[in-house]
Amino acid sequence: MRHLMSPLDFTVEELDRLFDLANDIEANPAKYAHACEGKKLATLFYEPSTRTRLSFEAAMLNLGGSVLGFSDQNCSSAAKGESVSDTIRVISCYADICAMRHPKEGAPMVASLKSGIPVINAGDGGHQHPTQTLTDLLTIRSLKHRLDHLTIGLCGDLKFGRTVHSLINALIRYPEIHFILISPEELRIPSYIREDVLKKNNVPYTEVERLEDVISDLNLLYMTRVQRERFFNEEDYVRMKDFYILDKEKMELAPEDMLVLHPLPRVNEISVEVDNDPRAVYFKQAQYGVYVRMALILTLLEVEV
Ligand code: NCD
Repeated sequence: MRHLMSPLDFTVEELDRLFDLANDIEANPAKYAHACEGKKLATLFYEPSTRTRLSFEAAMLNLGGSVLGFSDQNCSSAAKGESVSDTIRVISCYADICAMRHPKEGAPMVASLKSGIPVINAGDGGHQHPTQTLTDLLTIRSLKHRLDHLTIGLCGDLKFGRTVHSLINALIRYPEIHFILISPEELRIPSYIREDVLKKNNVPYTEVERLEDVISDLNLLYMTRVQRERFFNEEDYVRMKDFYILDKEKMELAPEDMLVLHPLPRVNEISVEVDNDPRAVYFKQAQYGVYVRMALILTLLEVEV
């Protein structure tokens, strides 16, 4: 039985197969409409989410399966003090696969050790968010037709943004990737990513503060929200929250074929006037999130179509 804790749980070849499957699902949805009939997905969300939970549920429903779960830990037995290990042992009797989001780093991993069903990490604190990374990679591969030879600007809250941490981990396996890390001093990438991931693997990267200085060099711009819920005090958040605002003026400095991605939810970091720019693909990205989660469910449940 396989779980998904980190994007590195799949080899590059396995990811290629997963993305081919996701593209086939996109092209032939009817072929997959009954693939998971009789199967159940449990969504155990101990932290708020719109896209991730609903896209998992939509994915399972599109495959003909059913869903159950909770979206607020106060509505679950966690509020009575139940451990994730106990919860997952019980859920294993009710469902065939589960997606878990938890504010504590490593909680889905702890659950997977006691689970009788595949566990998917749907975001653990500031640590990882592998299914968002699968979504990001599928979006890039489908729209840019490659995952190598890219200069990628990651902009915003690089300290607490788990999507960025997972994406860096996943992309360093492809040749000729260059990262430009764009953040205020206080929200720089954690040193464990700089040292253990980037430097250790000789991945070229640059750290800058001003987006306007580098936007013309980028193939991709990955914008992120300042992660309010991970700040220790509100004042720091208020000071940081509008540090970057991608607007029409900045988009004029960007290459014509640069793509703008964002895991969403967006707050102020991308002005709504950018939404109609053909380079803005963040809503398409959300759609790819459903296809890739369908492909993931099929793969972990070993369902052949
Ligand atoms: C991201 C997350 O939860 O980390 N959202 C998502 O799953 N699409 C990004 C965020 O909350 O900023």
